[in-house]
Amino acid sequence: MEQARKWLDGASRIAALTGAGVSAESGIPTFRGAGGLWRQFRPEDLATPEAFARDPLLVWEWYDWRRRLIAAASPNPGHAALAEIERRAGAFALITQNVDGLHERAGSRCVLKLHGDIWQVRCTGCGAEKRDDRTPLPSLPPRCECGSLLRPGVVWFGEPLPAGIWAQAEQAASGAEVFLVIGTSAAVYPAAGLAWLAKSAGAKVIEINPEETGLSAAADVSLRGKSGDLLPLLI
Ligand code: OAD
Repeated sequence: MEQARKWLDGASRIAALTGAGVSAESGIPTFRGAGGLWRQFRPEDLATPEAFARDPLLVWEWYDWRRRLIAAASPNPGHAALAEIERRAGAFALITQNVDGLHERAGSRCVLKLHGDIWQVRCTGCGAEKRDDRTPLPSLPPRCECGSLLRPGVVWFGEPLPAGIWAQAEQAASGAEVFLVIGTSAAVYPAAGLAWLAKSAGAKVIEINPEETGLSAAADVSLRGKSGDLLPLLI
């Protein structure tokens, strides 16, 4: 902890990659591990373009349920600490795989959302995009004014990441002096590859996770514990 704190205090360019674990203490289930969503549900039934084409109502019922969980949750001290790091740092990028919007609600400004945003909806016909915060949605599956189906504004398995956001994330990772990897199992690429990119470009990599992950070997320091406990101590 002491070493990690020194690196963080001495760095002017910092980047962080977060995953579902950072929202776990807000009561949002993670994907893998005990109680994880992918223990209960199959991603190929709910989080692929094929699943949506087959059964849009089922997919939307699942997203509507998750939107309700998230709406009832609040950011935790881990989210707040990341917003504080951004306020103090010269340059900071928060790269997240989370779609819940809790980083922004905690005050983070520069958030690069690799996997989209659960509060955005996009028309499968005319391509129009808008934010819709209503929970529950009044009718499922929701439709655009043009009559076509709306889909959640998230990235599903088999879909490319938003190119502009990915380019900014790569730039932030390769330019960072300190790279934090928080609450991610690092099982999903290309997101997890950002930590390796940062390391090969010379960053000190600090991992925060109660469990060992595939990235632990790349980390200069692994802090084992919950991000809501450890991030406030780090700053
Ligand atoms: P995972 O569910 O794969 O991993 C969550 C990680 O958080 C695990 O390594 C846990 O040990 C850790 N964790 C649990 N509680 C924690 C806490 N309180 N503090 C810190 N860490 C904690 O979630 P992601 O790595 O985010 O993608 O998953 C990546 C992607 O896979 C998601 O964006 C989603 C999923 O399928 C798509 O849907 C495309």
